[in-house]
Amino acid sequence: VVVPGLGEGVYYMSIPKYLDAFEEVLGFRPYAGTLNVKLDEESLKARRELRSQNLGFRIEGFVLDGREFSGVTVYKAVIVSNGVSVAGAALDIDKTKHGDDVLELIAPVKLRDALNLRDGDPVEVIILG
Ligand code: CDP
Repeated sequence: VVVPGLGEGVYYMSIPKYLDAFEEVLGFRPYAGTLNVKLDEESLKARRELRSQNLGFRIEGFVLDGREFSGVTVYKAVIVSNGVSVAGAALDIDKTKHGDDVLELIAPVKLRDALNLRDGDPVEVIILG
């Protein structure tokens, strides 16, 4: 289900180095922010399994103006709600304040608008191999 975040996604998703890296890997420039999704038990298990398989695209961390920016593993994904789907990506961020049960999504569009989502709404995230 869709949950509010910490308001930080928009900051990280405005750093050109991240944006360029995402664009190179995904072929789109992400909307500035991340949509946070709280995973149920089954999805949490699937996420941990996925992580152990060393799939996805790797964006290494970097230092900018003395600040450390975390590495990220990017999985191409389709985000589905009420029969509408948007191509985007799911992120495994090395250093995050969130637990494993919160998945951060990016997309070329604002998913809340494109899929008409509010906090608490269920979404399906299909990870593409
Ligand atoms: O506050 P939070 O960290 O969840 O969000 P943010 O990363 O600062 O993003 C701003 C808003 O856009 C939040 O409401 C996100 O859920 C939303 N968002 C979206 O709908 N679609 C995206 N592709 C990215 C962010």
